[in-house]
Amino acid sequence: MAGKDRTEEIVTDMDSDNKITRRDALKRLGFIAANAVIASSGALSLTACKEKKIKRVVLYFTGTGNCLYVARQLAGADGETLSIPQLFKQNKFEIEADEIGIVYPIYGHMPPYMVRQFIKRAQLKAKYKFAVLTYGNRKCSAVEIWDEISRKANQTFDYISTLIMVDNWLPNFDMNEQILIDKHIPENLEKITSDLANRKRWHEPVTEEERQQHQGFMMWTKMNPEVGFVMRSEQYFRVTTACINCGACVSVCPRGNYSMTSEGVKMRGDCEFCFACIQNCPQKAIQFAKNENDPLLSNGERNPNARYRNEHISLMDIKRANNQF
Ligand SMILES: Cc1cc2nc3c(=O)[nH]c(=O)nc-3n(C[C@H](O)[C@H](O)[C@H](O)COP(=O)(O)O)c2cc1C
Ligand code: SF4
Ligand code: SF4
Repeated sequence: MAGKDRTEEIVTDMDSDNKITRRDALKRLGFIAANAVIASSGALSLTACKEKKIKRVVLYFTGTGNCLYVARQLAGADGETLSIPQLFKQNKFEIEADEIGIVYPIYGHMPPYMVRQFIKRAQLKAKYKFAVLTYGNRKCSAVEIWDEISRKANQTFDYISTLIMVDNWLPNFDMNEQILIDKHIPENLEKITSDLANRKRWHEPVTEEERQQHQGFMMWTKMNPEVGFVMRSEQYFRVTTACINCGACVSVCPRGNYSMTSEGVKMRGDCEFCFACIQNCPQKAIQFAKNENDPLLSNGERNPNARYRNEHISLMDIKRANNQF
C-alpha cells in the first residue's frame, strides 16, 4: 500500500509542472522498486503483521442489559460478545483469543450461579484476561470473591474492576428513581477502556470494611457462599391476570424456566434471580410472591409499577442473549 500511494504522488509531480528533474524522478522510482523487493521478501508483511488487529472476546451474563451494554462497549467495533447462557446451550466452553473479558452483575457481591458454573468448566486461552463486575449500590469484596473463584477454576484474571450502574434489585430500589441517579457510567467506562487498551494488570482494591460487610450479609441471609443466589422461581414469582401471553418471559429466562400452557404462563425450576423475567415483562404482570420469612424479600418490593431495562438494550437483545429454546 505504501508503495502504491508513493507512486501516485510521483506521477502527479511529473505530470503536473515538471518541477523535478528526470534524474530525481528515476531516483524516486528506484525507491519504489526497492519497496517492491522488500515487499516480496516478506519484510513488509512483517510490518503488516504488527498491525494485525487484536482479537478480543467479551463474555457476559445479563438480566436487564447493563452487562450486555458494557460487554458491547468493551468489545468495540472489532471485538466479539458471547452470551454465557448461549455458550451453555451450545455446550461450548473452550474460547481462544488474544484478550478475553467477562462481564457479569454481582448478586450479593458474588457472581451469578451460571457464571460460577461456567468458569469451572471453561478453558479460556488468552494472553490477557479481564473481568468487569457491574453493581448498583454496594460492591463489598466482589473483586476478591471473583479472584478466588476464578483461581480455584485455574483461571487467573489480569484485571478486575467493578462498575456502578442502575441497581436492578427490585426489593430495595424504585427503578424510576434509580434511572435518574447520575452514576458517571461514561467516565468510569472510559477509564476501564483505557486500562484495557494498555493491558493494565490490576485488581481494584478491597477494604477490610468491605470484607466485613460481605461477611455480615452472608450471616444475615444464611446464604451458601459456594452457591450464592439460587432460588426456585415458582416460590418467588407469580403471574397476574395482566398477562397477555406475549411469551417474552419464556424467551428472556436464561434457565428456560417459563412455558406457555393451556392454563397460561407457568414457571418452574432453579432460578438465577437475574430478574430478566420480572423486569422485562411488558405488562408488569410478573410480581414477587409473598415471602415474609425470606430476609431479602420480607418487605416486598419498593415499586411494583416500575421496571427497568438498560436504555441501550432492546427486549430482542435480552431474548437473543438468554433464550434457551
Ligand atoms: C439478585 C440480585 C442481587 C444483587 N446484589 C447486588 C449487590 O449485592 N450489590 C449491588 O450493588 N448490586 C446488586 N444487584 C444489582 C445488580 O448487580 C446491578 O443492577 C447490575 O448492573 C445488573 O446487571 P444486568 O442489567 O446486566 O442484569 C443485585 C441484583 C440482583 C438481581
Ligand atoms: S412476559 Fe408478561 S405478559 Fe408476556 S407472557 Fe410473560 S407474564 Fe405474560
Ligand atoms: S425465572 Fe426469572 S429470575 Fe429466574 S432465572 Fe429465569 S428470568 Fe431469571
